[in-house]
Amino acid sequence: MTGSGVGSAPGKVILLGEHSVVFGQPAIAATIARRLEVRLAESAASAVGDAKLRAALEAAADGLPVDASSLSIEIRSDVPPACGLGSSAALSLALVRALGSLTGASLSKQEERSRASRVEDVFHGTASGLDVAASAADGVIWFERGAPPTIQALRPREPFDLVIALSSEPRSTAGPVGRLRERQKRRPELFDRMFGLAGDIVRAGREAIESGDLESLGASMDCAHGLLNGFGVSTPTLERMIAIARGAGALGAKLSGAGGGGAIVALGGERTSAVIAAFDAAGFEAFPTRVGAVDLALRQNVSLSDEGVRYEAPASSRGPAVERPR
Ligand code: PMV
Repeated sequence: MTGSGVGSAPGKVILLGEHSVVFGQPAIAATIARRLEVRLAESAASAVGDAKLRAALEAAADGLPVDASSLSIEIRSDVPPACGLGSSAALSLALVRALGSLTGASLSKQEERSRASRVEDVFHGTASGLDVAASAADGVIWFERGAPPTIQALRPREPFDLVIALSSEPRSTAGPVGRLRERQKRRPELFDRMFGLAGDIVRAGREAIESGDLESLGASMDCAHGLLNGFGVSTPTLERMIAIARGAGALGAKLSGAGGGGAIVALGGERTSAVIAAFDAAGFEAFPTRVGAVDLALRQNVSLSDEGVRYEAPASSRGPAVERPR
């Protein structure tokens, strides 16, 4: 067989529930209007030199009628890499979709998701599955880990605008997750109560999203950030960014993802432009993303332009490094 295949998947932002989701509590995540695209081609000179990317490709191809070692791979993305916005989950899912298109295998949505979860484990050990589930859903989801996980599509009463801002601090998922696991082992009575409270905040956030009560959603995000700080996963830079967002009038703000660097998410409401301007003035990259708008689903099969950021190889246990086009 000779041929080629293309697949793409969106990045995600965790609105509420990171970390406590690992300990069995619910979480809410949404896809963002940024995507990653994989192009695979059968090639005599296999181009996948990076060991982790090769392992991911092999995991994605497991059991499919294709020789993964004969494939070259091209990855384009405008999902900021390695900062908690789901770039490795999007890569995992896009790989699976590209292999589906290359081999003609018809994978159900559930097969795509569970196969992509196994691929994501190649990048950063055993994950809760939240990132892949969010990317696969192309919308807003409620997620609880389990075998199988509980994944429900949430319907925001009104679309709402988030601001995502990047700290540029290097980070990994495994580091903060491992350190919190150690803290929880030392003081289970304290941390298990905090995780329970984090779950209550996620439930309150769900009600706020479904009833269109943005002020309550913002309050839930602020409370969630307080707990995440207590989990020890914030940094001075992230704290400064939270203060910038709130100072510019955001309805709520929190770190998003594993923390230890990476991104924050703010609920901009009517102050979305002002929040972005405040980040610009402080020298942080920030961009808006709309949650609950229908057009995101229509982007499912879009192709990224040549100006898109190009990934070369995973730089850390978390995901691929980025190289901007020359
Ligand atoms: O990889 P990140 O930064 O999106 O973090 C994933 C969310 C965690 O809850 C911290 C880990 C997990 O596996 O759910």
